[in-house]
Amino acid sequence: MQRELQRESQSRLSRERLRPDEQRRDCPVLLSQRLVLRAPHEDDIDAIAHLANNETIATMVSRMPHPYTQKDAANFVERTKEGVIGNCVYAITKADNGEFLGCCGIESLPEREDTVEIGYWMGQPYWGNGYTTEAIQVLVDMVFRTRHEIDHIDGRCRVVNGRSKRVLEKCGFQFQGPGMVQSLAVGGSVAVEWYRLDRRTWMSLKSWGGQR
Ligand SMILES: CC(C)(COP(=O)(O)OP(=O)(O)OC[C@H]1O[C@@H](n2cnc3c(N)ncnc32)[C@H](O)[C@@H]1OP(=O)(O)O)[C@@H](O)C(=O)NCCC(=O)NCCS
Repeated sequence: MQRELQRESQSRLSRERLRPDEQRRDCPVLLSQRLVLRAPHEDDIDAIAHLANNETIATMVSRMPHPYTQKDAANFVERTKEGVIGNCVYAITKADNGEFLGCCGIESLPEREDTVEIGYWMGQPYWGNGYTTEAIQVLVDMVFRTRHEIDHIDGRCRVVNGRSKRVLEKCGFQFQGPGMVQSLAVGGSVAVEWYRLDRRTWMSLKSWGGQR
């Protein structure tokens, strides 16, 4: 399992470099009780640069540089628009005042039409309010409701990242196995745990919730 997940991860990295623009797909604006998830835009650059310039966040994700500058934020926004980063990247914002909180997104895998990988970060001042869990739940719902070819969603987190594990668990993801991935901010490989939510489990969770 570990070797398979490592191979899959390496193969993803090489595909990311080759991803053509046509991999972009429509990403509807998503609403939840407290949040609006929409495409990142230029007005977010200051907030992204401020919140993402955080070593605690950068060392928990794969591709965030540290230190993180205004230029990095502008580049991020531009590349999400071009579809170079991710297949569907969202700014997580507060519904009541539009405040930028963090980002989440999915990554499509060209050779694996039945899978997407999920990723996210939340600005540290906003941790512990359930915002990421709320955002990932609406993102997962969108994926399974609008992309009928998707059979499962993968997520991963560093073994030391208890918060992220908890988010995945609260969204119904189940532990699959260990692996190693590159982290730009760490400057090397880090030990991760892979998690997966399959469509049938999601359907079961949704219907279970509906019966209450
Ligand atoms: C992981 C991260 C997105 C969580 O954001 P968040 O908005 O605080 O998440 P939520 O509030 O929805 O849920 C956090 C959960 O972790 C729990 N938690 C907090 N500290 C924890 C710890 N040290 N160990 C385990 N769980 C912890 C919280 O209690 C909460 O669970 P609960 O609702 O059952 O009480 C945020 O910490 C972050 O951006 N970290 C850095 C980047 C990152 O890790 N990205 C994910 C890469 S895989």
